[in-house]
Amino acid sequence: MLPTLDKFIADNLNSRFPHTSYVREPGFRSLYVRLWSRVLNNQKHDNVLDIANIQATKPGKGKFTELIKRLHPQLTIYVECVQNPRLEALLIRMGFKKNDGGVANDTIIGFPSYYLLKEKTETCGQCFEFVFKRAKQWLNAGNVESSRFVGVHATVHNPWSNKAFEHAWVEVDELVYDWQTIELKNYSPISKAEFYAKWKPTNIRRYTPEQVLAIAVKYGHYGPWT
Ligand SMILES: CC(C)(COP(=O)(O)OP(=O)(O)OC[C@H]1O[C@@H](n2cnc3c(N)ncnc32)[C@H](O)[C@@H]1OP(=O)(O)O)[C@@H](O)C(=O)NCCC(=O)NCCS
Repeated sequence: MLPTLDKFIADNLNSRFPHTSYVREPGFRSLYVRLWSRVLNNQKHDNVLDIANIQATKPGKGKFTELIKRLHPQLTIYVECVQNPRLEALLIRMGFKKNDGGVANDTIIGFPSYYLLKEKTETCGQCFEFVFKRAKQWLNAGNVESSRFVGVHATVHNPWSNKAFEHAWVEVDELVYDWQTIELKNYSPISKAEFYAKWKPTNIRRYTPEQVLAIAVKYGHYGPWT
């Protein structure tokens, strides 16, 4: 009989050798996993759980999302050879990164793989620069009502992993313009209520567009400035 996923992990965690198996997990018809070390983003990571041949018993019921939420605090997750564009979109939404190289590069067989690092601090990419650019655009556009524009720097919490990271975004009236959604994913701005409920910001610093430019010049970088 196949082991359960939890038993497989418990038996093979911190092992020096790779272990692979089909496993049993409620909500999944098929799940093949490998627990080992991988080089990702030029660094060796132990306890990486590769996921392959995954099939939910009833797709679209949240089982995959639940599974990642449960596993990610303990493990780095690597989803191998993603052939389903909807799964790819879901992974990107959850914060997974595309594996673009390294020792075990699955992309050579034509399908991308995605990983979610178990890491202490996450970064938001170009969010601070985005706030700076938008502040500059706002002022250059001759907006007299500069109080409508708020550049926000804060600590936010990843809704899937609950990891804290420094983030920055722009608020205009009741809408949030966030680099990750606006530029990276080409989505529309979202409401402040929705954004705050999802990312639970703390240590919030608010800046006028003039302050964003002046403080960036003072420190010589886009932020954070604390
Ligand atoms: C891909 C899969 C494992 C995701 O598991 P899941 O439990 O359905 O995922 P969740 O319910 O947590 O999340 C739903 C999201 O999964 C993605 N998804 C991918 N394939 C899907 C499918 N066939 N049906 C529904 N959702 C799917 C979508 O992004 C969906 O979100 P959306 O409705 O907003 O687009 C599952 O949908 C599945 O078994 N699909 C068929 C087999 C498959 O494509 N396997 C992957 C091969 S690379």
